[in-house]
Amino acid sequence: MYTQSFSVPDGTEDAKSAGLKAVPKAMNAHDAALQAQFDARIDADGRIEPREWMPEAYRKTLVRQISQHAHSEIVGMLPEGNWISRAPSLKRKAILIAKVQDEGGHGLYLYSAAETLGTSRDQMLEALHTGKAKYSSIFNYPTLNWADVGVVGWLVDGAAIMNQVPLCRCSYGPYARAMVRVCKEESFHQRQGYEALLVMMQGTAEQKAMVQDAVNRWWWKCLAMFGPPDADSPNSAQGMRWGIKRISNDDLRQKFVDATVPQAKVLGVTLPDPDLKWNEARQAHDYGQIDWDEFWATVNGNGPCNKERLGARVKAWNDGAWVREAALAHAQKQQSRQMKEAA
Ligand code: 3HC
Repeated sequence: MYTQSFSVPDGTEDAKSAGLKAVPKAMNAHDAALQAQFDARIDADGRIEPREWMPEAYRKTLVRQISQHAHSEIVGMLPEGNWISRAPSLKRKAILIAKVQDEGGHGLYLYSAAETLGTSRDQMLEALHTGKAKYSSIFNYPTLNWADVGVVGWLVDGAAIMNQVPLCRCSYGPYARAMVRVCKEESFHQRQGYEALLVMMQGTAEQKAMVQDAVNRWWWKCLAMFGPPDADSPNSAQGMRWGIKRISNDDLRQKFVDATVPQAKVLGVTLPDPDLKWNEARQAHDYGQIDWDEFWATVNGNGPCNKERLGARVKAWNDGAWVREAALAHAQKQQSRQMKEAA
């Protein structure tokens, strides 16, 4: 399956040769010197740390990507959390609880990483709750039955790992370090989903049909998860030049298809694409057309579950207000006690 050892040459050289600068423009001599330092670090494949100078556009791009990633983890708890009370056995329930809890943890590491860039968690959540921030398109589709839970593990988490392993080499230190742990846990998530499906595929004809039906519904959505084609991706070239993204949307999508085809064969399911076939010349699979209109409709708030997902997040935030108030009051009380003792 996918592990930390998944590593391929990255595409940052292409962005360099396309003439993109690590920093688009310098403001003055002082900034020019800082820019040169930053450029040199990026060109040497070094890490940028929170207290170091960085161009505002780099900071903004990171906050955008990391906060969207954090939102995806938190919203991603909803479609599966929905199945905790209906898991078919105690073992499956325990695994699912652990997985959903892990996703919550991933969101917290990622919000913390974004906070090191000077944006508060409240600001990020406000952007999510008011519909200004994006989160992954994939979580706006329903999990209709237990096979969907397995397929989300196998394909959705599989796609997430494919995208996230290269992020362990991101140029921004806190994001890269958070991703190491996230990827280890995602690897477990992917395997548990695949194993749950393997068991179902040894079951009754009805169970096998449920798995095939879930694969049919999720396959194309997972391919779209990697983002628009490179030619239509406004952020890719600069993100890769800065060493934030390491592999392009299309290259990751291709790797996902190539890795998944043999897994589907072992499982005994058909991937729902009549154009899917091995291309000897490319040493890769050709695949059919993704419905980008549907993808953009979903990203722009009109997918089947967008309103439900956002509604659930806003409700959780409002319902939790008393916990935040109590925690703050407790912290203030402790602080004033410590100050009195110190006086
Ligand atoms: N869903 C929603 N929006 C998407 C998207 C998707 N699947 N793919 C792309 N977009 C958005 C981008 O955010 C961007 O919008 P913005 O400019 O307003 O931010 C726009 O579409 C154009 O896309 P680009 O390719 O130019 O954008 P990026 O260079 O940022 O690449 C990305 C998109 C590959 C998703 C990148 O942001 C990324 O790698 N993010 C980190 C990983 C991540 O967020 N994964 C989400 C899934 S996490 C997950 O699945 C949880 C796990 O538990 C399963």
